Amino acid sequence: MTLNFDQEMMQYCLKLACQALGKTAPNPLVGCVIVQDKKIVGEGFHPGAGQPHAEVFALRNAGEKAKGATVYVNLEPCNHFGRTPPCTEALIQAEVAKVVVGMVDPNPLVSGTGIQRLKDAGIEVIVGLEEPDCQQLNEAFVYRILHQKPWGILKYAMTLDGKIATTTGHSSWVTGTEARQKVHQLRVACDAVIVGGNTVRRDNPWLTTHEAGEPNPLRVVMSRTLDLPKQAHLWDTQEAKTLVITEEGVNPDFQQFLQNKGVEVAELSPLTPAQVMAYLYKRQFLSVLWECGGTLAAQALVDGSIHKILAFIAPKIIGGKTAPSPVADLGLTQMTEALLLERMTWGSVGKDFWIEGYLFQT
Ligand SMILES: NC(=O)c1ccc[n+]([C@@H]2O[C@H](COP(=O)([O-])OP(=O)(O)OC[C@H]3O[C@@H](n4cnc5c(N)ncnc54)[C@H](OP(=O)(O)O)[C@@H]3O)[C@@H](O)[C@H]2O)c1
Ligand SMILES: [Zn+2]
Repeated sequence: MTLNFDQEMMQYCLKLACQALGKTAPNPLVGCVIVQDKKIVGEGFHPGAGQPHAEVFALRNAGEKAKGATVYVNLEPCNHFGRTPPCTEALIQAEVAKVVVGMVDPNPLVSGTGIQRLKDAGIEVIVGLEEPDCQQLNEAFVYRILHQKPWGILKYAMTLDGKIATTTGHSSWVTGTEARQKVHQLRVACDAVIVGGNTVRRDNPWLTTHEAGEPNPLRVVMSRTLDLPKQAHLWDTQEAKTLVITEEGVNPDFQQFLQNKGVEVAELSPLTPAQVMAYLYKRQFLSVLWECGGTLAAQALVDGSIHKILAFIAPKIIGGKTAPSPVADLGLTQMTEALLLERMTWGSVGKDFWIEGYLFQT
């Protein structure tokens, strides 16, 4: 399908926005393009919280050429004094002629007010161009605003017979290099990646972005026992930060050992996925990637900490009655009780396959 000029400009806004992937929490990903006579005269993106918004960078870039121009931006311009002055006023002052907005601000308290302010100032406003793509890029931001919780993604890799490890717990690797690189890219876009203590003991993972570049997400370990090895890649905090969350008063000596290594330690009682998500929300996180085994994944699904699933399927069969599967016991007994997914997409990567879908919200 070929895109018209307006669509192309909005897609370019999304591309610009992605330059700050993983760096904007709790703010959205926003890109802005300013056009005169079908030529780009200014562009910008929001680099991160506390910094100017995309519109401001694009206006600075366009200078005098913003006068009478058309502005494309994937999210409704803000209309309130936050950490920075409102973008609506900057657009009005620059005397732009038209603003094309990808989607309205999801915050019910301000939704539509930026658009109204621009219209009141005599600026032509078009809303909803390439809206599905705009919504998807900021799905974590939208969810966080509406539900006061971070967005949770459960990612796992399994064999065609539904096993995430062998009967002995060995799991490196289920999938090939290309699939693992796709996971590294996903980590760039997420603010935290979570595993449980067992995955640390069994797999000794790095949980970094490797070749996919910056930024690394905060690596989070949930462990009730704190019975964890003294040698682990996650305790190497040179490349990426690590946070270990345990329950109150558990193994103070090991807590001290971790802190001496530069690992942050927090206590939450009771230690549940929902509590961890509430804690990460307070720390301004947008998106959290669950890369845990089936026990923790089941808990996270049950308590509403997961909203999207990304499953990799390797064309392999490993067998084993007791080999673990991606989700342990959910307490369901009838097939009619199954958790349903919607908006499924799928594809192949290297020799493996991926399937992604959203948990059906009732
Ligand atoms: N193929 C894949 O995609 C993949 C991904 C991850 C893991 N794995 C495999 O999965 C196996 C580990 O599975 P697992 O299910 O034991 O995974 P896990 O990710 O280690 O989660 C379980 C651990 O989480 C901790 N935990 C903290 N709070 C919890 C809570 N409220 N509910 C449940 N657990 C809580 C406990 O650690 P403590 O025992 O320290 O208290 C528990 O042992 C390993 O064999 C690993 O290789 C495979
Ligand atoms: Zn703004």
